[in-house]
Amino acid sequence: MKKLIALLAFCLPMSLLAAPIADTHTEMAGCESCHEGGTPSSDLAHENQTCIDCHGDLNALGGVHADHAGMMECTDCHITHEEHDANSGCESCH
Ligand code: HEC
Ligand code: HEC
Ligand code: HEC
Ligand code: HEC
Repeated sequence: MKKLIALLAFCLPMSLLAAPIADTHTEMAGCESCHEGGTPSSDLAHENQTCIDCHGDLNALGGVHADHAGMMECTDCHITHEEHDANSGCESCH
């Protein structure tokens, strides 16, 4: 039991903070939740629309998101299949 608790304490924060978005979302709802038929589109338009359908658009999300409304797509800052910090790309423009 102690071992189980230690394992959970170790795994939970890891999976919440570091896991790639694609992995957390595949566990929740499968590849099809972002990819039409499970297959990536060439322009990611479908993928970006799925983000908006579930989370709302940049204006609705507020904060740093609203600062970029009408200028950027979700996938410009969120690299879904990598462990990636969405804060890491700001310097390339600011
Ligand atoms: C949260 C939405 C989301 C989920 C869930 C997701 N993907 Fe993706 N996938 C993307 C996005 C966005 C890209 C574009 C590249 C990127 O941002 O990582 C992508 C890229 C890809 C690519 C192109 C190669 C690459 O890695 O760049 C493949 C292949 C792929 N996904 C397959 C899958 C499979 C198979 C699953 C289920 C096991 C899955 N994806 C789940 C959003 C998702
Ligand atoms: C089917 C609905 C759905 C889709 C599609 C979806 N999300 Fe999510 N997402 C959720 C839920 C539910 C959570 C967990 C609760 C929360 O944090 O809102 C979540 C969590 C997140 C998180 C917090 C970290 C994590 O991985 O749990 C980020 C960042 C995120 N989503 C970004 C995206 C992006 C970017 C896309 C499009 C590529 C996307 N989501 C597509 C439903 C979705
Ligand atoms: C200008 C870059 C940028 C763009 C574009 C962007 N995000 Fe984010 N997003 C961030 C940053 C930075 C965080 C905070 C990450 C952290 O500190 O963990 C974040 C966090 C999130 C979270 C976690 C919950 C929260 O609000 O903190 C969700 C969900 C999310 N973004 C969804 C989206 C969706 C959906 C889109 C497209 C409509 C999007 N993001 C576009 C930079 C961006
Ligand atoms: C692709 C380029 C790009 C990236 C990456 C980017 N921004 Fe921006 N950002 C812009 C542009 C363009 C504007 C609107 C024009 C302006 O006012 O500078 C803007 C506006 C802002 C604003 C509103 C205040 C202002 O300067 O007008 C803030 C705050 C901001 N960005 C913070 C961030 C943060 C934090 C990140 C990383 C999570 C980030 N940006 C990533 C291009 C970018």
